[in-house]
Amino acid sequence: MTWEELDYARLEALRVRFLERTAGDADYWNDEADLASYDLTFAERIGWKWDAVLRELQLRQWQPPRQVPLVDWGCGSGVALRRWLQHVGLADWTELVVSDRSARAMRYAEESVRRQYQEAGQPLPTIRQLSPDAAAAAATGSVLLVSHVMNELDGAGRARLIEAASQAQAVVWVEPGAYDESRALIQIREALMRDFRPVAPCTHSAGCGMLTEDNNRHWCHHFGRAPVEAFTEGHWAQFGKWLGIDLRALPYSFLVMERRTRENESVPSPDWSRAIGHPREYKGYLKILNCQAEGVEELMMQKRDAKALHKHIRKGKYLPIYRWRRKDAKVVGGEALDQEGCL
Ligand SMILES: C[S@@+](CC[C@H](N)C(=O)[O-])C[C@H]1O[C@@H](n2cnc3c(N)ncnc32)[C@H](O)[C@@H]1O
Repeated sequence: MTWEELDYARLEALRVRFLERTAGDADYWNDEADLASYDLTFAERIGWKWDAVLRELQLRQWQPPRQVPLVDWGCGSGVALRRWLQHVGLADWTELVVSDRSARAMRYAEESVRRQYQEAGQPLPTIRQLSPDAAAAAATGSVLLVSHVMNELDGAGRARLIEAASQAQAVVWVEPGAYDESRALIQIREALMRDFRPVAPCTHSAGCGMLTEDNNRHWCHHFGRAPVEAFTEGHWAQFGKWLGIDLRALPYSFLVMERRTRENESVPSPDWSRAIGHPREYKGYLKILNCQAEGVEELMMQKRDAKALHKHIRKGKYLPIYRWRRKDAKVVGGEALDQEGCL
């Protein structure tokens, strides 16, 4: 599928389902061209979110489990699995599992992953296409990838997925940066907490601070950066215009957890904080919704108190992870997690 061949009517049909949240009702992949059109556009944009998540994990020096199965649940065209393999490596998996309620999607995802290995000249591990029920069993001891599936699952589907997650070695789950999906991820975080430790976005292993009544209106979301082609290539401009969105804004929610072991218990660094969403900018100061072990609260930072940090935050180029110096709810200085990943 190329941009010239792209059929916007197909995308429109998909988009209506996603927007009206009716995508969960029935399998909507009518033919391979649906998947190819999705893969070139919506999935690529989802891939940019995965790039942001995977870069963060690398900066935070997280070592994912290896020599385990890698399962992509609700795989669609397979973008999550391909991005994972691209960032983390092609070689270390005992098997790859693509799972979806749609057989067509599983075939497409498997084919796309095969091509990825061929193009890299790497030997292909076993790839299995498994129904959601069978994938639940295969997820035991795996790295479980989940991407943009939450709002298509009913209660039973969600429960099955959470049960599968509870058997995994690690879970890496990316969703749109919307209220409902974020809140659902928070529930999953809390449900897995006994056996798993949060790797990201959290900087701590305490209960989620979003769950207090005061924070009811907030949700845990973050912004990635679209790659340069989103600004320079005409077809992306056209796609963004058609969608009616600014492609530069890339909101997402995510959750990465790994099974607790004696070694990884001490990994979180509770004196570090994470800024949620975008800071709000006022004349001479910023308001930052801040998450740390003690809870989620709004902080205020005056430019004159911390000029360099203020600039750093406004540019928004880096991970929004900081070690503040504070006077109550006022930030008076501190340091940012830098590109070397000092966390
Ligand atoms: C929006 S697509 C996301 C696909 C892919 N994970 C991505 O990020 O591009 C949601 C996928 O979930 C699948 N799906 C929906 N309900 C499901 C269920 N109950 N069990 C398994 N897969 C399901 C759909 O067929 C579709 O492929």
